[in-house]
Amino acid sequence: MKVMVVGGGGREHAIIKKLKENQTIDTLYAVPGNGGIARDAECVDIAATDLERIVAFAKEKQIDYAVVAPDDPLVMGLVDELNAIGIPCFGPDKKAAIIEGSKVFSKDLMKKYGIPTAEYETFDNAEAALKYLETSAIPVVVKADGLALGKGVIIAQTREEAFDAVKSIMEDKKFGKSGDQIVIEEFLTGPEVSVLSFTDGKCVVPMISSMDHKRAKDNDEGLNTGGMGTVAPNPYYTEQIAAECMEKIFLPTMNAMNAEGRTFKGCLYFGLMLTPNGPKVIEYNCRFGDPETQVVLPLLESDLLTIMQAVTNETLAETEVKFSNGSAACVIMASDGYPASYEKGFEIAIPDDVADHVYVAGAKLSDGKLLTSGGRVLGVTAVSKDLKSALEESYAMVGKVKFDNAYFRHDIGQKALKALEN
Ligand code: AMP
Ligand code: GLY
Repeated sequence: MKVMVVGGGGREHAIIKKLKENQTIDTLYAVPGNGGIARDAECVDIAATDLERIVAFAKEKQIDYAVVAPDDPLVMGLVDELNAIGIPCFGPDKKAAIIEGSKVFSKDLMKKYGIPTAEYETFDNAEAALKYLETSAIPVVVKADGLALGKGVIIAQTREEAFDAVKSIMEDKKFGKSGDQIVIEEFLTGPEVSVLSFTDGKCVVPMISSMDHKRAKDNDEGLNTGGMGTVAPNPYYTEQIAAECMEKIFLPTMNAMNAEGRTFKGCLYFGLMLTPNGPKVIEYNCRFGDPETQVVLPLLESDLLTIMQAVTNETLAETEVKFSNGSAACVIMASDGYPASYEKGFEIAIPDDVADHVYVAGAKLSDGKLLTSGGRVLGVTAVSKDLKSALEESYAMVGKVKFDNAYFRHDIGQKALKALEN
């Protein structure tokens, strides 16, 4: 079988490593992949957003199954185009991917169907938004409607910051057309939980829960990043909370999308906040999270391709989705300076005994050498019997991976460990 995975980050590396366990796959393509993924799949130099060339490539190679991992090609409709030439895919079609592609859509969906989320207002002009902010509660959260590389959310601690956020998004068009509309919402507090789920539109099967660490620096200081590390499971996410989420959030969301004629098939990601008033949705993503995938999939004991195909064929209810009862920790090694400016082009040395645990995100091959080429360079994941030992093993491996200008947080998982003690 020939399988194509679209995307080129650590998340895609984790998907590819997991898919490789399936013996029926003889060729795995990564489009575009990266220098580290090249160790595990055949990389094809086509951008994940170049729909036309991806479709032509898939046709030429007679791809049997495609996994579309990143948000942009999903929101642009790559799954629709591949389906149109007869290639089955894992990932939502364009109509369903809007759940991530438009925050105005997702907020209005939650309001219409009574799914718990922060109170909000939407605006399509800056004047009205600024007027609203004159009397709103502070802190307040300003969000660009569309995709913004994970940077479209501003937590404003003061009224001035909120005004500036509206101006930069709506007037200076910092995120282009993604800022034509904005959501202004209530600031919530509580532990955050990421729950990735498989859904075929008939049932929702949550994967093991996880916790991201979004800020660049230790103690949750510094700028927001794409994620500096993850642990799974998330100790705040108890069985009781999981049951409540299934009843009030997961199933209602699936049913709402069906009722809107936008059946979601793929990985639906619930970004949750466990507030004093119960779990609420902070965001939906129409795809696997990054770096959540790097801790969730290593704990998956069932075959990933079988599950993905069951989602496509709408037979998920009859398919085994089993997770180990151990823990996983992933520490991201980044280029110092990320998410602002940083230098790249440094050689990366990964010892053989660690390589299986490394998920490469920002690296390219040049004359046979692996060189840093991005902000988040790689993630190192350890799976162990409990969180404490997974963290120890992960950090021990981080110590063996070398490149100049490397930066990583030293406190990944500490909050989770404390929560376990209580
Ligand atoms: P997002 O890009 O939607 O994942 O948002 C980035 C981060 O902003 C989230 O992980 C939360 O930590 C925070 N955030 C988003 N919305 C809210 C909110 N309504 N209240 C408090 N924090 C929020
Ligand atoms: N780790 C958050 C995301 O993938 O959006």
